[in-house]
Amino acid sequence: MSKGLRKGLTSYGDAGFSLFLRKAFIKAMGYSDDALERPIVGITDTYSDYNPCHGNVPQLVEAVKRGVMLAGAMPMVFPTISIHESFAHPTSMYLRNLMAMDTEEMIRAQPMDAVVVIGGCDKTLPAQIMAAASVDLPTIVVPVGPMVVGHHKGEVLGACTDCRRLWAAHRAGEIDEQEIETVNGRLAPSVGTCMVMGTASTMACITEALGLSLPMSATVPAPHAERIRIAEASGKRAAEMAVSGGPRPSEILTASAFRNAQIVLQAIGGSTNGLIHLTAIANRTKERIDLEEFDRIGREVPVLIDLKPSGRHYMEHFHHAGGVPKLLRELGDILDLDARTVAGGTLRDVAAAAEEVPGQDAIRPRADPIKPIGAMAVLRGNLAPRGAVIKHSAASPKLLQHTGRAVVFENVEDMAARIDDPDLDVTAEDVLVLRNTGPVGAPGMPEAGYLPIPRKLARAGVKDMVRISDARMSGTAFGTIVLHIAPESAVGGPLALVRTGDRIRLDVEGRRIDLLVPDGELAARRAALPPRSRPDWARRGYARLLHDTVLQADQGCDFDFMTGAGDDQAFVEEV
Ligand code: FES
Ligand code: MG
Repeated sequence: MSKGLRKGLTSYGDAGFSLFLRKAFIKAMGYSDDALERPIVGITDTYSDYNPCHGNVPQLVEAVKRGVMLAGAMPMVFPTISIHESFAHPTSMYLRNLMAMDTEEMIRAQPMDAVVVIGGCDKTLPAQIMAAASVDLPTIVVPVGPMVVGHHKGEVLGACTDCRRLWAAHRAGEIDEQEIETVNGRLAPSVGTCMVMGTASTMACITEALGLSLPMSATVPAPHAERIRIAEASGKRAAEMAVSGGPRPSEILTASAFRNAQIVLQAIGGSTNGLIHLTAIANRTKERIDLEEFDRIGREVPVLIDLKPSGRHYMEHFHHAGGVPKLLRELGDILDLDARTVAGGTLRDVAAAAEEVPGQDAIRPRADPIKPIGAMAVLRGNLAPRGAVIKHSAASPKLLQHTGRAVVFENVEDMAARIDDPDLDVTAEDVLVLRNTGPVGAPGMPEAGYLPIPRKLARAGVKDMVRISDARMSGTAFGTIVLHIAPESAVGGPLALVRTGDRIRLDVEGRRIDLLVPDGELAARRAALPPRSRPDWARRGYARLLHDTVLQADQGCDFDFMTGAGDDQAFVEEV
């Protein structure tokens, strides 16, 4: 039974007076007793002038409110922080856990019987779902939706795979100053999230596959009327959940749901960031993501979605082809279709209702996949004892087996200072190594893993090289790029031991990344590393909290004291 305004009363011995006070204050907003006696659905407002991806949030909030009221409940909108990829210094990932904490605590602190979280830009859905999993109040996720595509000289453009490609062409001297300015105004033609299969789209698809949002929530373009109707329907459904008390995230986020999400992550050619976020979400429940199992799934599950950066299309094409429900139907028995969803039924119901779209080619049948195996592989080796990730679906096939000479950059600043130096000793066969870019090192594990091709090589026509780091990479990027090396160099991971001139072997088939240096030599180098101490940037505040407690990439980069559900023990970090 819902409790509405009575929920979480701090009575200090006189519950009647506490409720009297609460009502006295809220009535200042003009609410009637009739409104205040109803079940309450909280709605997160993540609008911010710094977050163009969330530009339609005010409209979505209105629609969710309408849905809640049509179903006879009371909507209460409250703000949380909002994070945009381009406006979050030093990196949006640095703030993800802060948003998760903010969202969790504001849901806990205020009276509500169910909550609708509205988000979308890369780190926001993960943060909100981490929070929802911890609070375990009935929750529906409403993604803001992808942008529509842009057009330039007859070509379709998308943020931000094409941002990178066209900027690289500009760097190589192929596009002049004036044209790149024109392109700048066409890459992000509407509000909404990046419309390639970047992190935002990946997380929206995973959210739908997990059963946390209504069918088609991931793919309807942000400016479409249908997006507003989904928000209204989500509000209605949340009102029902407020009354019935479920399903709760703990009833949705089961072992089957997480396995389904990993299958979908591989099948959509999703962002590598998706793996970190899914791991962090699972760690807020009783479930865990096992990297070996994720790799096994990747060997069996084909890539079926033909979207950039692995393929050709954009989110609106995925949508018009039938969206996630159609993908679920294609995947069929690979998934556990008995998994429940917030819509009230199971994934089987969602898949059964999928639309058949004749002639569409954005969602491929299992018999004719984009790639016969999944998008990502997990690597291990003496360079990555706790794992590393490569999105081989977006890599150059000829570089997937490669041995080359290491060219080491100490950190992002060092790379920025030297990568375009005409005197840099580098060839296309070398392996570019970037370190001190992990969760602790940078801090916040920036998307620096997409090292630019050194300008002199780019000008000579080199499009890809093997690049390795403890950083992340934008889901919208392309290349033979090894990421998330764990443990990271800043906490003494083996990446700290690499020297320019060493040889590194990448063997994606064998799932290995190795530094070809004898163990004795590595031990001597380790002994010579300077002792660790807390750096200046981590002296106080949130930075210190992050520095001291953030987990490594293989554990989802949450804070060590935030993980676990119920009686579960939190992780204790050891390196
Ligand atoms: Fe917000 Fe890409 S910048 S989703
Ligand atoms: Mg991104």
